[in-house]
Amino acid sequence: MKLNSIGLSEKDSKSLSEDLNQLLANFQRYYQNLRGIHWNIKGKRFFDLHPKFEELYDDANLKVDEVAERILTLGGVPLHTFEDYIETSKVPVGKNVSKDEDAIRLIVDSLTELLIIERRILDASDKSGDEGTNAMMSDFITEQEKTVWMMKAWLAEEI
Ligand SMILES: [Fe+2]
Repeated sequence: MKLNSIGLSEKDSKSLSEDLNQLLANFQRYYQNLRGIHWNIKGKRFFDLHPKFEELYDDANLKVDEVAERILTLGGVPLHTFEDYIETSKVPVGKNVSKDEDAIRLIVDSLTELLIIERRILDASDKSGDEGTNAMMSDFITEQEKTVWMMKAWLAEEI
């Protein structure tokens, strides 16, 4: 097995960086969804939700950077054009969402897609002994699951 300079299998690192690129594309779509609802939200809860969505997109922005830099650490090239993001992304596009319940539901639906991808990467990185990627996925998953719980509580729905 050919190892790279961080001591991981070259082949596994390449495959993980491709998976991480898929996550990156989906994260960027989630990020744009958050910007959209931050801008377009209307109604009596505006003053709660407008800053809440800003907090979430600031957090997504940091995570996008972490994912991209992990891809580089593994020897890959992070996707960075809107064209690539559109092609590889599964997170739903929320266009002109202004109703608070629809906005919260869009967050839940986006996070569900991210969680599915992250669990796949968690599993693959575990098999490759890639602790750095594994720990990152583990942190993302724990945080996002908690966010989903809170959003579902806001919607007064079961998880
Ligand atoms: Fe703003």
